[in-house]
Amino acid sequence: MTRAFIRPAVIAMTGYVPGEQPQDRRYVKLNTNENPYPPSPRVVAAVRAAANEDLRLYPDPSANALRDCAASVYAVGRDNVLVGNGSDELLNLLVRACVGPGDRVVFPYPTYSLYDTLVTLQEGEIVHLPYPPDFSLPPTLAAAGGRITFVCHPNSPSGTAVAIESIRALAHEVTGLLVVDEAYVDFAEATALPLIHEFDHVIVLRTFSKSFSLAGMRIGLAFGAPSVIAELMKVKDSYNVSRLSLVAATAALQDYQWMQANAARIRRTRAELIRALRERAFAVLPSQSNFVLARRPGQDLEGLYLALKAKGVLVRYFPTPVLRDALRITVGTDDEITALLHALDELSVTG
Ligand SMILES: Cc1ncc(COP(=O)(O)O)c(C=O)c1O
Repeated sequence: MTRAFIRPAVIAMTGYVPGEQPQDRRYVKLNTNENPYPPSPRVVAAVRAAANEDLRLYPDPSANALRDCAASVYAVGRDNVLVGNGSDELLNLLVRACVGPGDRVVFPYPTYSLYDTLVTLQEGEIVHLPYPPDFSLPPTLAAAGGRITFVCHPNSPSGTAVAIESIRALAHEVTGLLVVDEAYVDFAEATALPLIHEFDHVIVLRTFSKSFSLAGMRIGLAFGAPSVIAELMKVKDSYNVSRLSLVAATAALQDYQWMQANAARIRRTRAELIRALRERAFAVLPSQSNFVLARRPGQDLEGLYLALKAKGVLVRYFPTPVLRDALRITVGTDDEITALLHALDELSVTG
């Protein structure tokens, strides 16, 4: 029996369920917070140019060219930066490096559910602290005594952000590592990145998957104190990021304005989407992300999710008790949002 070889913790867990990536037909795809706009033409040109015979060679295991570029864009040192195969890999490295059996990992709930999967794999103890209705930070986060405390900023799936001051206050209080997952921060008003200069135990994560339109390339950055980054380096695979991904990320940073222009367009469409959903009797939290959480308190929205899917519009439904009354909707192009609203209206979802 194969199962005899597998750790009981793995057999007992349900694996992380990523959002659907359907291959059968084309949808108006508003379910996994990808960017509706293409990456910079400079990225595409750089990847094309790098798709040559040098692919027989391993990539730079330290990713120093990209680290140097990130260091200059984000005003940090090279030693403050670690490059990952998506920020998911960086989350994985952090949990593997810090969490052993029985160690506590604390985070507000609901949030990005990969944190649960990673801690379960390490046989750590998960402490969920419910977000209050306004999605401010739960006041007992630090007192819970996590070896790691995760704060997703802005949070998924709520889309909400908290004041940087409250993250700073938490950094003063926690005794373990504070990991601020800023996958969506380019759509927000403020970043916690400067905190890495104030605290050795704060790590800030970024990704190229959302604002830079590079989900397919799998690149993330961790920012933190050199002493912590150096330990994480030991845990990662030697060649964790491919040559093409390194080239793509470097070119994307060199065309930062492209990302900013797309983020600005998405913020404008987001305002319009929120207004239109509220008009259709959804409760929508203020979003600082490239998605919104649209609720019908007390209703289960699975039927609506399925009906939209049948009409070719894919949004995210989470079959978990606290989120059954909600749909998470990625901010697409204006045309995609018009298609969503049209589909909602056809389904007579007007309140
Ligand atoms: C909060 C959050 N963190 C991290 C990630 C992972 O991003 P990446 O594509 O860089 O692995 C996601 C992806 O959806 C996310 O929502």
